Amino acid sequence: METAAPLARLLLYGGTMLAMGQGTRTMLAGRASARASGPSPAVRGALWCGACALLVAPLLLLSLQRQALELPLAELPALLRDTTWGRGWLQLTIPCVLSALLLPPRRTGTTSRLLVWAALGVSVTMGGLGHAAADAQWPLASRLLDALHVAGAGAWIGALLLMLLAGAPVPEPTGADRHGEWPAFSQMATVVAPLVFLSGVGSAWLRVGASGPAEILASDYGRLLALKLLLALLVVALGATQRRRLHAGAAPRRQVVLVELCLAVLVFTATAWLTGLEPPGA
Ligand code: HEM
Repeated sequence: METAAPLARLLLYGGTMLAMGQGTRTMLAGRASARASGPSPAVRGALWCGACALLVAPLLLLSLQRQALELPLAELPALLRDTTWGRGWLQLTIPCVLSALLLPPRRTGTTSRLLVWAALGVSVTMGGLGHAAADAQWPLASRLLDALHVAGAGAWIGALLLMLLAGAPVPEPTGADRHGEWPAFSQMATVVAPLVFLSGVGSAWLRVGASGPAEILASDYGRLLALKLLLALLVVALGATQRRRLHAGAAPRRQVVLVELCLAVLVFTATAWLTGLEPPGA
């Protein structure tokens, strides 16, 4: 029970990242002069895993909530209809199912556009189950920051993972290929990564801003948040080194991208536990 809920959230984050990442990648490939290569077996496998995660995670979360409240099955409709958590779950589950249905099929203009909208729907509704939904003082700001944070993280980290799996063609060493997939990704990440960072800092302020540094660091929530901040800084720093390489006309280093993605997985893992802890002073 202690680890089941964080694992369900981790599954949800994974599926969301892949859905947002695939939508973003399709949009980038539309802008890039060299279109993205067709789905490799690795990408297809990842998209199927993402689709399964988006179907299983909401069911797991519902079952855990029912267990926690010790509700009989017959009370489920009332849970979904009459509680804030239940309505938040329903609102999240609809775009999750849509994203899951749209993730694996062959890409066409229409399925890609629908996937982007469905994945944005997951990003917007995800905050309905966490601390953002419980913020009575700044409800709109909390939900808006959360949605920006999740959508941005998906566009950035999800697209990076899929490009690595697809073995996206590296730009010409001469720098002539300024419109390839990697430079298009780099331009997008230059805008989106600071957005993820700033929305994260904004959310952190809303969660712990009323407490002093000592009180924050005395809580499990505060310590995990500090660790997450450190890990996220490392991800951004590694991304910046790859951006400099691309600007200098060199290819991104595969090993560095791999380390960046492993650190991002740690960030998601920390977040999955963080969202289940009580912020200090709450
Ligand atoms: C690589 C960068 C990052 C990624 C991939 C990432 C990812 C995420 C995800 C997926 C969520 C879950 C949202 C939800 O459940 O509704 C989240 C929440 C959050 N993130 Fe980040 N994040 C990143 C960087 C940051 C940074 C730099 C901060 C600033 C300290 C931050 C602070 C937060 C906070 C406070 C929450 C809300 C936690 C709660 O509900 O208690 N994040 N993040």
